[in-house]
Amino acid sequence: MTRGKFIAFEGGEGAGKSTQARLLAQALEARGIACEITREPGGTPGAEAIRALLLGTAGDGWHPRAEALLFAAARSDHVERRILPALEAGKWVICDRFVDSSRAYQGGAGGLGDADIMALHQVGSCGLLPDMAILIEVSPAIAAARAAARDGDAADRIGGRGEAYHARVAAAFARLAEQQPMRFARIDGNASQELVSQAVLAAIGSLR
Ligand code: TYD
Repeated sequence: MTRGKFIAFEGGEGAGKSTQARLLAQALEARGIACEITREPGGTPGAEAIRALLLGTAGDGWHPRAEALLFAAARSDHVERRILPALEAGKWVICDRFVDSSRAYQGGAGGLGDADIMALHQVGSCGLLPDMAILIEVSPAIAAARAAARDGDAADRIGGRGEAYHARVAAAFARLAEQQPMRFARIDGNASQELVSQAVLAAIGSLR
């Protein structure tokens, strides 16, 4: 059995990742490629429970280190119980966010640093990386408008952080993509859904 490919969608809030993940899975399925579509934080019952702890707005919130540990713990369960078994069964796994989100949010914007995030990832998930990370980049104005249309006043604990935090997230994603151009495809998410979807399909062409 040939191992499946692992593709992660990355980017800030309101970039359109979930829509594009769904469109990619549909396009691949139409070509006869079985896909497992999932998301982070979450994807297994245990990781979804941790998601509720991370994104819920009860209490005082998590210290950046505790936050990074919780994301790594959720990811560990997700990798072990869902992602690896699907890849080994020959399916393509399409994940809405993966470790590059921790590198950008907790490592870059949260100030933990990349080495600590990757150390946690090594412990939690044996350092598993996607075959390709698709980084969808949108202007701050478009991102804010889409997030407001989706969430209204009900942003989660991390999405609701200020503009400066989200600007640091975007800069951290851009830096990661510059450092690892072979592993990242950078896509302009300001265009229409159809155009973005075509660009995603072109980007993964090299994997098939
Ligand atoms: P979600 O609503 O799934 O994301 P989006 O707004 O992209 O649709 O919420 C996930 C939140 O968790 C989002 O604000 C990004 C954040 N996050 C991290 O800070 N670190 C991580 O490792 C992951 C996977 C997500």
